[in-house]
Amino acid sequence: MTSSASAIALKPSFHVEVRLKTVGGAFVRTDLVFCLSLPHAYLIESINVVDFSGTEGETSFHRLQDVQLDVQAYELHENEEDSSLGTHNMHREGDGEDALPQVRVAALPSKSLNGIWESLVFGDEIPARLLRFTTRMMSIMKNPALNLTILNWNRLILLYGPPGSGKTTLAKALAQKLTIRLGKQFTQGKLIEVNSHSVLSKWFGESSKLVGKMFDSIHVMAEEETTLICVLIDEVETLTSSRERAASGNECGDALRATNQVLTALDRLRHRPNVIVFCTSNLVSTIDSAFLDRVDVKQHISNPCPATAYEILRISLNELIRCNLLVPLSDPDDVDEDSDNAVQLVGDSPSTSPSSGEDWVLMDSRTIPTLLYMNVHLWKRPNCPARKLWRIAQRCDGLSGRTLRRLPFLALALHIHSEACTVREGLVALAMALDEEIGKEDEIKREAREGEETS
Ligand SMILES: Nc1ncnc2c1ncn2[C@@H]1O[C@H](COP(=O)(O)OP(=O)(O)O)[C@@H](O)[C@H]1O
Ligand SMILES: [Mg+2]
Repeated sequence: MTSSASAIALKPSFHVEVRLKTVGGAFVRTDLVFCLSLPHAYLIESINVVDFSGTEGETSFHRLQDVQLDVQAYELHENEEDSSLGTHNMHREGDGEDALPQVRVAALPSKSLNGIWESLVFGDEIPARLLRFTTRMMSIMKNPALNLTILNWNRLILLYGPPGSGKTTLAKALAQKLTIRLGKQFTQGKLIEVNSHSVLSKWFGESSKLVGKMFDSIHVMAEEETTLICVLIDEVETLTSSRERAASGNECGDALRATNQVLTALDRLRHRPNVIVFCTSNLVSTIDSAFLDRVDVKQHISNPCPATAYEILRISLNELIRCNLLVPLSDPDDVDEDSDNAVQLVGDSPSTSPSSGEDWVLMDSRTIPTLLYMNVHLWKRPNCPARKLWRIAQRCDGLSGRTLRRLPFLALALHIHSEACTVREGLVALAMALDEEIGKEDEIKREAREGEETS
């Protein structure tokens, strides 16, 4: 590799997202330089440095001259009003009004998906890595000279793992982010959600025809090459059940033909450089091997580890504090016990004596701090809210992100009988709700085991 080539390869990038305002219901169609000039700054809603790609150095500080700035301006679309796109119902000739929608189409980036990326908590860097990978993949694939019979890429991403682990949410978040990140390559984006269940259940016996029609309509939408088409096939095992199992008599012929149709349709779709297909599955073992073989990236999404569970619960509890449903200062015990609810001081580390004073900085005492902060500053306070929450989080092993998001609400609804309560009471209620949830999960597992033994 030449030195200039290695310089290009090694030059890291900061990805900057500039959200533009929608002025008077119309989108601002203007270039970024124009917007960033001071007289037009009113057109900007927000500027965020959202990601960094490049090799991680020893330090997380970078000089501006050493990095590339990848600035993307975007506007959010209101899909509720977007009746021209709306929902594509595929009716069979002569069928009534009650046909289920098989495909939902939304313009990207969408207002309704704003913040969805930030709402997901994963212990590792899975979302960021997937976003970098899919961005690179789409950029490489735009090269018209690429011979797809030699380079076998299908632009097919499969997220698999237990139910409630955030797969569907992550797929939608990726579609949203990818549209923003590839803003210079594609002028707009569309999210096409395929409802796998309605394809098979509604038109039993005709599934393969419907699958064909559905993908035909996706092809038509993909003809506009400046539009990024993100297809989301949720619970893909429904549409791609294993043909080996069908042959052994466990599946019906209808499902088998639908699987064949999906494979053929995907083979056609891979020639469209503006299409990417995200699939999710809770039951990867039942998926046809020919489908799995076409998947470019198979990413397991697991249930949260204790540190992730802490973060998910912490965010939910802090939201309850923000809305005054949990009140940190109202219980004098909270203050007496270990003064967590008195003003909290950064620099409150074991080595810093309270009288040294000068390097202490005020921080928000109302909210529950991060795990990192707790480990550094609160290790001497076993009864502070953060330490209690950490003990709860360590018992959440095996619970899904969905259950964790629900738990604080269950705690308040089931165990608190006043409008608002203290953080301490909230944590006691949370521990009780967790006990009940674990009890129920154990019961379901026991019943499932007994069911298996008797069958
Ligand atoms: N790791 C996570 N971080 C934050 N929220 C999560 C996480 N996992 C799941 N959730 C939440 O749980 C709910 C269900 O997630 P979903 O994407 O439908 O799961 P799946 O498709 O894996 O069944 C969503 O509201 C999502 O925000
Ligand atoms: Mg899902």
